[in-house]
Amino acid sequence: MKRKTLYAPSLLSADFSNLHDAVERIHASEADWIHLDVMDGRFVPNITFGPKVVADLRPLSTLPLDVHLMITEPERYAEEFISAGADYLTFHLEATVHAHRLVQKIKERGAKAGVSIVPSTPVWMLEELMPELDLILIMTVNPGFGGQSLIPRCLEKVRYLKQAAQRDSHDYLIAVDGGVNRNTADAVRRAGADVLISGSAFFKASDPREEVRRVRGY
Ligand code: DX5
Ligand code: ZN
Repeated sequence: MKRKTLYAPSLLSADFSNLHDAVERIHASEADWIHLDVMDGRFVPNITFGPKVVADLRPLSTLPLDVHLMITEPERYAEEFISAGADYLTFHLEATVHAHRLVQKIKERGAKAGVSIVPSTPVWMLEELMPELDLILIMTVNPGFGGQSLIPRCLEKVRYLKQAAQRDSHDYLIAVDGGVNRNTADAVRRAGADVLISGSAFFKASDPREEVRRVRGY
C-alpha cells in the first residue's frame, strides 16, 4: 500500500524564545507532524530541552509530536516524555543496550516506538527490532546540529528498509532526518521515505507552505 509522504518540521531551527510563533508557522504550512530534537550534550555535542518544553507545547497543537531523543540511557526519560505528550518517541540504538525492552515499554505506555541510527551504524543492526517498530529514523547527517548536508550513502539504508518492509510485511514508517530540503527531497522520497524531517530549510523558507509542498511532492 502506498502511503502519503509526511513532512515534519524540526523545531531545532526555530527561535526558542518564541516557540508559539514557530508552531503557528507549522500550522500555516500544512505540515503533518512536529519534530522535537532532545539533546543532552553527551550523546551529541549540543543541548536543547527536556520534557517540560514538550508538555508546554502539547496544548498548542493537535499535530502528532514526534520526539527524537538524542540522549544516552533514553530508558531513564522515556516515561516522562510520553507523559509530556509525545505521540512518537524515537531513541538511538547506539544510546542503550536494551533497545528491545525500551521499545516494549514505550508501546505499553501508549506511544508509538521509533529507533534511530547514526550514519556510521549499519542498517542490519535493526533486524531484530523491525517487527516491533512503528518508526525507523535514518539520520542522514551526524546528529547534533541543523544545517548540515545530507550524506547520500545513508539513503541506501532507506532503500534497504523499504524492501525489508515489503518483503516481510513490517509496519514501520521510515523517517529521514538531516539535510532534507527541496534539492534533496526527490532522492529521499524515491529511496522510500515516509516521513521527511526538515529544520533549517523549513524555518528559512520565505513561503513555508510552498516549501512543504515542494519537499513532500504534493
Ligand atoms: C539533527 C536533528 C535534526 C535537525 C535537522 O541532529 O536530529 O532533526 O533539526 O536539521 P536540518 O534539516 O537543518 O538538517
Ligand atoms: Zn531530529
